[in-house]
Amino acid sequence: MADNIEPVNEHVTHAYDALYERDQRHLAVDAYMNSHLISEASNAHYVKLEKILQDSLVAGLPDIACSRAQAKFLMLQARMSSSTNILEIGTLGGYSAAWLATASKDAHVTTLELDRDFARVAAENVAAAELSHQIEIITGPALLSLTRLLDEVRKQERQPYDFVFIDANKQDNITYFDLAMSLTTPHATIIVDNVVRNGKVALESEAVKDDRVMGTRQLIQAVGSNKGVDATVIQTVGEKNYDGFLLAVKV
Ligand code: DHB
Ligand code: MG
Repeated sequence: MADNIEPVNEHVTHAYDALYERDQRHLAVDAYMNSHLISEASNAHYVKLEKILQDSLVAGLPDIACSRAQAKFLMLQARMSSSTNILEIGTLGGYSAAWLATASKDAHVTTLELDRDFARVAAENVAAAELSHQIEIITGPALLSLTRLLDEVRKQERQPYDFVFIDANKQDNITYFDLAMSLTTPHATIIVDNVVRNGKVALESEAVKDDRVMGTRQLIQAVGSNKGVDATVIQTVGEKNYDGFLLAVKV
């Protein structure tokens, strides 16, 4: 092969980056829609939720929170399904947990965070948003916390969950999903973030280079053959670029 010819994979990756990562239209549409639908004028929680996003960045957390539109979409799905007992895996700064808590006055969110610093920032953010009474942050490895929650649910010391949002390390997605199935009521909703990752999920040659994407592929395959759940993936663009989420509903 001549030196100036790049491998096919490189071309594909660059093409994806160029097509999807830097499309100003996606940013402009989110900005336009949010200015009407997630604005101070239209949303009672707007200022407090925006402050969580800003204070998380000021505290040095990575800029990987849900987009505003997706966070509101999550909250609306929790409200549509009349979910009040909500579990989140991956708190980060508490932005999505805070949105989910606004689904209703009865909503209670349990959110799991590995990183102590992230969990401390999230606790401060949630307190500043006056949502501490609706949000329980559990710090530590999610697999340990989930095992404890499952034990409590089985002993009827804790209510099973009716809505789960999985947004943590992608390598363990399949295990988180299985535990979510065990922790939830019939017809519960389970949503998994970041299942598309700039389209890499569908490119086996890209996926094998990234164990996060491999984790997602394993999850999709397992969900597809799980008769206990009905699921679909919706691809998304916007201020967080090209990605997508899995929506699964227990039978
Ligand atoms: C990453 C993680 C996320 O949950 C997300 O929404 C975006 C990016 C990441 O680890 O890069
Ligand atoms: Mg995410």
